[in-house]
Amino acid sequence: MRRSREFAVVAGVGASLPSRLVTNEELASRMDTSDEWITTRTGIRQRFVVEPGAATSDLAVEAGARALKSAGMAAVDAVLLATTTPDHPCPATAPSVASRLGLTGVPAFDVNAVCSGFVYGLAVADGLIASGAFASVLLIGADTFSTIVDGDDRATVSVFGDGAGACVLRAGRSDEPGAVLGVELGSDGGLRELIIVPDGGSRQRSAGDSAATVSGKYFSMQGKAVYKHAVRRMTQATLDVLDRVGWSVQDVDLLVGHQANKRILDTVVAGLGMPADRALVNVDRVGNTAAASIPIALTDGVASGALREGRRVVLTAFGGGASWGAAALVWPDIAAT
Ligand code: UT7
Repeated sequence: MRRSREFAVVAGVGASLPSRLVTNEELASRMDTSDEWITTRTGIRQRFVVEPGAATSDLAVEAGARALKSAGMAAVDAVLLATTTPDHPCPATAPSVASRLGLTGVPAFDVNAVCSGFVYGLAVADGLIASGAFASVLLIGADTFSTIVDGDDRATVSVFGDGAGACVLRAGRSDEPGAVLGVELGSDGGLRELIIVPDGGSRQRSAGDSAATVSGKYFSMQGKAVYKHAVRRMTQATLDVLDRVGWSVQDVDLLVGHQANKRILDTVVAGLGMPADRALVNVDRVGNTAAASIPIALTDGVASGALREGRRVVLTAFGGGASWGAAALVWPDIAAT
Protein backbone atom coordinates (compact mmCIF):
# COMPACT_ATOMS: atom_id res chain seq x y z
CA MET A 1 0.00 0.00 0.00
CA ARG A 2 1.26 3.51 -0.84
CA ARG A 3 2.23 5.56 2.22
CA SER A 4 0.59 8.97 2.54
CA ARG A 5 3.05 11.74 1.91
CA GLU A 6 5.27 13.32 4.56
CA PHE A 7 4.26 16.78 5.73
CA ALA A 8 6.63 19.59 6.69
CA VAL A 9 6.20 20.26 10.41
CA VAL A 10 7.50 23.41 12.11
CA ALA A 11 10.01 22.32 14.78
CA GLY A 12 11.70 25.58 15.77
CA VAL A 13 11.92 29.32 15.06
CA GLY A 14 14.46 32.06 15.68
CA ALA A 15 15.31 35.59 14.63
CA SER A 16 18.15 38.08 14.57
CA LEU A 17 18.06 41.87 14.35
CA PRO A 18 21.09 44.09 13.89
CA SER A 19 22.11 46.22 16.87
CA ARG A 20 21.78 49.65 15.25
CA LEU A 21 18.31 51.05 16.10
CA VAL A 22 16.97 53.85 13.88
CA THR A 23 13.93 55.67 15.26
CA ASN A 24 11.54 57.86 13.29
CA GLU A 25 12.87 60.81 15.27
CA GLU A 26 16.40 60.09 14.06
CA LEU A 27 15.20 59.97 10.44
CA ALA A 28 13.29 63.25 10.94
CA SER A 29 16.50 64.86 12.19
CA ARG A 30 18.36 64.05 8.97
CA MET A 31 15.74 64.14 6.19
CA ASP A 32 12.43 65.77 5.26
CA THR A 33 10.09 63.44 7.13
CA SER A 34 8.36 63.22 10.50
CA ASP A 35 7.40 60.65 13.09
CA GLU A 36 3.79 61.65 12.46
CA TRP A 37 3.99 60.95 8.67
CA ILE A 38 5.71 57.58 9.07
CA THR A 39 3.50 56.39 11.93
CA THR A 40 0.25 57.48 10.30
CA ARG A 41 1.06 56.08 6.85
CA THR A 42 2.79 52.85 7.88
CA GLY A 43 2.52 52.16 11.63
CA ILE A 44 6.34 51.94 11.76
CA ARG A 45 8.05 53.53 14.79
CA GLN A 46 11.58 52.16 14.41
CA ARG A 47 13.73 49.74 12.44
CA PHE A 48 17.19 48.17 12.81
CA VAL A 49 20.02 48.40 10.28
CA VAL A 50 23.38 46.66 9.91
CA GLU A 51 26.66 48.40 10.74
CA PRO A 52 29.03 49.12 7.82
CA GLY A 53 30.73 45.93 6.67
CA ALA A 54 28.02 43.57 7.92
CA ALA A 55 26.07 41.43 5.44
CA THR A 56 22.88 39.41 5.10
CA SER A 57 24.65 36.13 5.93
CA ASP A 58 25.72 37.45 9.35
CA LEU A 59 22.08 37.87 10.38
CA ALA A 60 21.04 34.65 8.62
CA VAL A 61 23.61 32.57 10.53
CA GLU A 62 22.44 33.94 13.88
CA ALA A 63 18.73 33.40 13.12
CA GLY A 64 19.48 29.91 11.76
CA ALA A 65 21.44 28.95 14.89
CA ARG A 66 18.57 30.14 17.09
CA ALA A 67 15.99 28.17 15.10
CA LEU A 68 18.13 25.01 15.35
CA LYS A 69 18.39 25.54 19.11
CA SER A 70 14.62 26.11 19.36
CA ALA A 71 14.13 22.80 17.50
CA GLY A 72 16.73 21.01 19.65
CA MET A 73 18.53 19.93 16.47
CA ALA A 74 22.20 20.25 15.53
CA ALA A 75 21.87 19.29 11.87
CA VAL A 76 19.41 19.38 8.95
CA ASP A 77 19.35 17.85 5.46
CA ALA A 78 19.15 21.14 3.52
CA VAL A 79 19.45 24.89 4.02
CA LEU A 80 17.30 27.37 2.05
CA LEU A 81 17.84 31.11 2.25
CA ALA A 82 15.11 33.46 1.03
CA THR A 83 16.79 36.77 0.22
CA THR A 84 16.93 39.61 -2.30
CA THR A 85 20.10 41.02 -0.78
CA PRO A 86 22.65 38.19 -1.08
CA ASP A 87 26.18 38.87 0.18
CA HIS A 88 27.31 38.86 -3.49
CA PRO A 89 25.48 38.71 -6.87
CA CYS A 90 27.29 35.37 -7.33
CA PRO A 91 27.44 32.80 -5.74
CA ALA A 92 24.31 32.14 -3.67
CA THR A 93 24.64 32.99 0.03
CA ALA A 94 23.00 29.84 1.45
CA PRO A 95 26.09 27.58 1.11
CA SER A 96 28.16 30.06 3.12
CA VAL A 97 25.42 30.25 5.77
CA ALA A 98 25.25 26.45 5.92
CA SER A 99 29.04 26.14 6.35
CA ARG A 100 29.11 28.76 9.09
CA LEU A 101 26.40 26.78 10.89
CA GLY A 102 28.63 23.69 10.76
CA LEU A 103 26.53 22.13 7.99
CA THR A 104 29.12 21.91 5.19
CA GLY A 105 28.06 19.28 2.67
CA VAL A 106 24.29 19.71 2.81
CA PRO A 107 22.49 21.14 -0.23
CA ALA A 108 22.03 24.88 0.21
CA PHE A 109 20.53 27.43 -2.16
CA ASP A 110 18.88 30.84 -2.31
CA VAL A 111 15.26 31.60 -3.18
CA ASN A 112 14.51 35.09 -4.51
CA ALA A 113 10.88 36.11 -4.35
CA VAL A 114 11.54 39.43 -2.59
CA CYS A 115 9.00 39.95 0.23
CA SER A 116 7.19 36.69 -0.62
CA GLY A 117 10.47 34.80 -0.28
CA PHE A 118 9.70 33.08 3.00
CA VAL A 119 6.37 31.68 1.75
CA TYR A 120 8.03 30.58 -1.49
CA GLY A 121 10.81 28.95 0.55
CA LEU A 122 8.22 27.22 2.71
CA ALA A 123 6.63 25.74 -0.41
CA VAL A 124 10.03 24.50 -1.61
CA ALA A 125 10.90 23.05 1.81
CA ASP A 126 7.50 21.36 1.96
CA GLY A 127 8.10 19.85 -1.49
CA LEU A 128 11.58 18.57 -0.55
CA ILE A 129 10.15 16.91 2.57
CA ALA A 130 7.06 15.58 0.77
CA SER A 131 9.34 13.91 -1.80
CA GLY A 132 10.75 11.77 0.99
CA ALA A 133 14.32 12.72 0.06
CA PHE A 134 14.78 15.19 2.94
CA ALA A 135 13.77 14.69 6.57
CA SER A 136 14.57 18.22 7.73
CA VAL A 137 15.15 21.66 6.22
CA LEU A 138 16.38 24.92 7.73
CA LEU A 139 14.55 27.78 6.01
CA ILE A 140 15.93 31.25 6.66
CA GLY A 141 14.53 34.58 5.43
CA ALA A 142 17.12 37.34 5.66
CA ASP A 143 17.50 40.76 4.07
CA THR A 144 19.52 43.93 4.50
CA PHE A 145 17.56 46.47 2.46
CA SER A 146 19.58 49.26 4.09
CA THR A 147 22.33 48.18 1.66
CA ILE A 148 20.19 48.70 -1.48
CA VAL A 149 17.96 51.69 -0.67
CA ASP A 150 19.14 55.20 -1.51
CA GLY A 151 20.04 56.71 1.88
CA ASP A 152 18.46 60.00 0.77
CA ASP A 153 15.13 58.49 -0.35
CA ARG A 154 12.69 59.10 2.51
CA ALA A 155 10.03 56.91 0.90
CA THR A 156 12.13 53.73 1.24
CA VAL A 157 14.53 54.58 4.10
CA SER A 158 11.55 55.14 6.40
CA VAL A 159 9.89 51.85 5.50
CA PHE A 160 12.63 49.19 5.33
CA GLY A 161 14.69 47.59 8.09
CA ASP A 162 17.24 44.76 8.18
CA GLY A 163 16.81 41.40 9.89
CA ALA A 164 16.61 37.62 9.64
CA GLY A 165 14.18 34.97 10.78
CA ALA A 166 14.36 31.21 10.48
CA CYS A 167 12.30 28.10 10.82
CA VAL A 168 13.28 24.43 11.10
CA LEU A 169 10.94 22.05 9.29
CA ARG A 170 10.98 18.30 9.83
CA ALA A 171 9.08 15.44 8.23
CA GLY A 172 5.90 14.49 10.03
CA ARG A 173 2.18 13.83 9.78
CA SER A 174 -0.61 16.17 8.72
CA ASP A 175 -2.40 15.73 12.08
CA GLU A 176 0.60 16.90 14.15
CA PRO A 177 0.68 20.48 15.47
CA GLY A 178 3.14 22.38 13.28
CA ALA A 179 2.10 20.69 10.04
CA VAL A 180 2.06 22.91 6.96
CA LEU A 181 -1.30 21.87 5.52
CA GLY A 182 -1.35 23.90 2.33
CA VAL A 183 0.53 26.53 0.34
CA GLU A 184 -0.56 28.83 -2.50
CA LEU A 185 1.84 30.77 -4.73
CA GLY A 186 1.42 33.18 -7.64
CA SER A 187 3.23 35.79 -9.73
CA ASP A 188 2.68 38.50 -12.35
CA GLY A 189 5.87 39.53 -14.14
CA GLY A 190 3.99 42.32 -15.91
CA LEU A 191 4.33 44.20 -12.63
CA ARG A 192 8.11 43.73 -12.35
CA GLU A 193 8.89 47.45 -12.55
CA LEU A 194 6.82 48.31 -9.45
CA ILE A 195 9.60 46.97 -7.22
CA ILE A 196 13.01 46.93 -8.85
CA VAL A 197 16.75 47.46 -8.61
CA PRO A 198 17.27 48.26 -12.32
CA ASP A 199 21.05 47.84 -12.59
CA GLY A 200 23.63 45.25 -11.67
CA GLY A 201 22.03 42.40 -13.61
CA SER A 202 22.51 41.01 -17.15
CA ARG A 203 20.13 43.55 -18.74
CA GLN A 204 22.22 46.55 -17.74
CA ARG A 205 25.60 44.83 -17.95
CA SER A 206 25.05 43.50 -21.48
CA ALA A 207 24.19 47.05 -22.56
CA GLY A 208 27.68 48.15 -21.41
CA ASP A 209 28.71 50.13 -18.35
CA SER A 210 27.75 53.40 -20.04
CA ALA A 211 24.12 52.42 -19.40
CA ALA A 212 24.72 52.39 -15.64
CA THR A 213 23.26 55.27 -13.70
CA VAL A 214 23.76 56.16 -10.08
CA SER A 215 20.05 55.87 -9.31
CA GLY A 216 19.84 52.53 -11.17
CA LYS A 217 21.77 50.70 -8.50
CA TYR A 218 19.20 51.55 -5.85
CA PHE A 219 15.96 49.84 -4.89
CA SER A 220 12.84 51.66 -6.07
CA MET A 221 9.19 51.01 -5.27
CA GLN A 222 5.99 52.54 -6.66
CA GLY A 223 4.38 52.53 -3.23
CA LYS A 224 0.78 53.39 -4.06
CA ALA A 225 0.42 50.79 -6.81
CA VAL A 226 2.21 48.15 -4.71
CA TYR A 227 -0.13 48.91 -1.82
CA LYS A 228 -3.22 48.11 -3.91
CA HIS A 229 -1.78 44.91 -5.37
CA ALA A 230 -0.58 43.81 -1.92
CA VAL A 231 -4.04 44.16 -0.39
CA ARG A 232 -5.70 42.35 -3.29
CA ARG A 233 -3.22 39.49 -3.59
CA MET A 234 -2.68 38.87 0.14
CA THR A 235 -6.45 38.71 0.62
CA GLN A 236 -7.03 36.38 -2.34
CA ALA A 237 -4.07 34.13 -1.49
CA THR A 238 -5.49 33.76 2.03
CA LEU A 239 -8.91 32.78 0.66
CA ASP A 240 -7.29 30.34 -1.79
CA VAL A 241 -5.25 28.58 0.89
CA LEU A 242 -8.28 28.39 3.20
CA ASP A 243 -10.17 26.76 0.36
CA ARG A 244 -7.31 24.32 -0.21
CA VAL A 245 -7.21 23.16 3.42
CA GLY A 246 -10.96 23.32 4.04
CA TRP A 247 -10.96 26.06 6.69
CA SER A 248 -13.33 29.00 6.86
CA VAL A 249 -12.22 32.56 7.64
CA GLN A 250 -13.70 32.10 11.14
CA ASP A 251 -11.40 29.10 11.74
CA VAL A 252 -8.28 31.29 11.55
CA ASP A 253 -6.86 32.27 14.95
CA LEU A 254 -4.01 34.41 13.64
CA LEU A 255 -3.11 35.97 10.30
CA VAL A 256 0.63 36.51 10.01
CA GLY A 257 0.99 38.77 6.99
CA HIS A 258 4.11 40.23 5.44
CA GLN A 259 4.87 43.25 7.63
CA ALA A 260 5.06 46.01 4.99
CA ASN A 261 2.61 48.47 6.44
CA LYS A 262 0.11 48.23 9.30
CA ARG A 263 -2.58 49.80 7.11
CA ILE A 264 -2.21 46.96 4.60
CA LEU A 265 -2.58 44.34 7.36
CA ASP A 266 -5.64 46.15 8.78
CA THR A 267 -7.24 46.37 5.33
CA VAL A 268 -6.62 42.69 4.54
CA VAL A 269 -8.08 41.56 7.86
CA ALA A 270 -11.10 43.85 7.49
CA GLY A 271 -11.66 42.70 3.88
CA LEU A 272 -11.65 39.08 5.05
CA GLY A 273 -14.24 39.93 7.70
CA MET A 274 -11.90 39.04 10.58
CA PRO A 275 -11.75 40.97 13.87
CA ALA A 276 -8.85 43.46 13.80
CA ASP A 277 -6.95 41.60 16.54
CA ARG A 278 -6.52 38.52 14.31
CA ALA A 279 -3.57 40.22 12.57
CA LEU A 280 -0.16 39.76 14.14
CA VAL A 281 1.60 43.13 13.91
CA ASN A 282 5.26 43.82 14.67
CA VAL A 283 6.01 46.23 11.81
CA ASP A 284 5.96 49.03 14.40
CA ARG A 285 9.11 47.56 16.00
CA VAL A 286 11.13 46.28 13.01
CA GLY A 287 9.81 47.96 9.83
CA ASN A 288 9.58 46.05 6.57
CA THR A 289 12.32 43.40 6.68
CA ALA A 290 11.37 41.85 3.30
CA ALA A 291 11.96 38.06 3.24
CA ALA A 292 12.72 38.12 6.98
CA SER A 293 9.43 39.71 7.91
CA ILE A 294 7.21 36.64 8.39
CA PRO A 295 9.73 34.49 10.32
CA ILE A 296 10.63 37.45 12.57
CA ALA A 297 6.88 37.96 13.18
CA LEU A 298 6.51 34.24 13.97
CA THR A 299 9.37 34.41 16.47
CA ASP A 300 7.87 37.51 18.07
CA GLY A 301 4.48 35.76 18.16
CA VAL A 302 5.95 32.81 20.08
CA ALA A 303 7.70 35.15 22.53
CA SER A 304 4.52 37.19 23.15
CA GLY A 305 2.28 34.14 23.48
CA ALA A 306 0.15 35.13 20.46
CA LEU A 307 1.27 31.87 18.83
CA ARG A 308 0.41 28.86 20.98
CA GLU A 309 0.00 25.17 20.33
CA GLY A 310 -3.10 24.34 18.33
CA ARG A 311 -3.74 27.83 16.95
CA ARG A 312 -4.70 27.89 13.29
CA VAL A 313 -2.39 30.23 11.46
CA VAL A 314 -2.34 31.64 7.93
CA LEU A 315 0.78 33.29 6.50
CA THR A 316 0.31 35.66 3.55
CA ALA A 317 2.74 37.82 1.59
CA PHE A 318 3.13 40.04 -1.46
CA GLY A 319 6.40 41.22 -2.94
CA GLY A 320 8.44 42.19 -5.96
CA GLY A 321 8.14 40.18 -9.14
CA ALA A 322 5.29 40.64 -8.53
CA SER A 323 4.98 37.54 -6.36
CA TRP A 324 2.57 36.44 -3.67
CA GLY A 325 1.68 33.45 -1.56
CA ALA A 326 -0.06 32.08 1.50
CA ALA A 327 0.29 29.04 3.76
CA ALA A 328 -1.91 27.43 6.40
CA LEU A 329 -0.60 25.58 9.43
CA VAL A 330 -1.51 24.57 12.97
CA TRP A 331 0.98 26.04 15.43
CA PRO A 332 3.15 23.60 17.46
CA ASP A 333 4.39 23.74 21.06
CA ILE A 334 7.80 25.36 20.57
CA ALA A 335 9.87 27.99 22.35
CA ALA A 336 11.76 30.83 20.70
CA THR A 337 15.39 31.06 21.86
O1 UT7 B 1 7.43 44.83 0.89
C1 UT7 B 1 6.94 44.63 -0.42
C2 UT7 B 1 5.57 45.16 -0.52
N1 UT7 B 1 5.57 46.57 -0.20
C3 UT7 B 1 4.45 47.15 0.18
O2 UT7 B 1 3.45 46.50 0.34
C4 UT7 B 1 4.46 48.67 0.37
C5 UT7 B 1 3.14 49.25 -0.07
N2 UT7 B 1 3.12 50.70 -0.07
C6 UT7 B 1 3.09 51.44 1.08
O3 UT7 B 1 3.15 50.91 2.17
C7 UT7 B 1 2.92 52.92 0.94
O4 UT7 B 1 2.63 53.24 -0.41
C8 UT7 B 1 4.15 53.74 1.40
C9 UT7 B 1 4.27 53.71 2.90
C10 UT7 B 1 5.43 53.18 0.78
C11 UT7 B 1 3.99 55.20 0.98
O5 UT7 B 1 2.78 55.74 1.52
P1 UT7 B 1 1.73 56.50 0.58
O6 UT7 B 1 0.67 56.95 1.46
O7 UT7 B 1 1.35 55.56 -0.54
O8 UT7 B 1 2.55 57.73 0.05
P2 UT7 B 1 3.00 58.10 -1.45
O9 UT7 B 1 4.10 57.22 -1.91
O10 UT7 B 1 1.80 58.22 -2.33
O11 UT7 B 1 3.55 59.56 -1.22
C12 UT7 B 1 2.68 60.64 -0.81
C13 UT7 B 1 3.55 61.83 -0.48
C14 UT7 B 1 4.57 62.15 -1.56
O12 UT7 B 1 4.73 63.56 -1.62
P3 UT7 B 1 3.98 64.40 -2.76
O13 UT7 B 1 4.50 63.85 -4.06
O14 UT7 B 1 2.51 64.16 -2.55
O15 UT7 B 1 4.42 65.79 -2.47
C15 UT7 B 1 5.85 61.56 -1.03
O16 UT7 B 1 7.01 62.21 -1.51
O17 UT7 B 1 4.32 61.54 0.70
C16 UT7 B 1 5.70 61.80 0.44
N3 UT7 B 1 6.50 60.89 1.26
C17 UT7 B 1 6.91 61.23 2.49
N4 UT7 B 1 6.72 62.32 3.24
C18 UT7 B 1 7.26 62.33 4.46
C19 UT7 B 1 6.96 59.65 0.95
N5 UT7 B 1 7.65 59.16 1.98
C20 UT7 B 1 7.64 60.12 2.94
C21 UT7 B 1 8.19 60.19 4.23
N6 UT7 B 1 7.98 61.32 4.96
N7 UT7 B 1 8.92 59.18 4.78
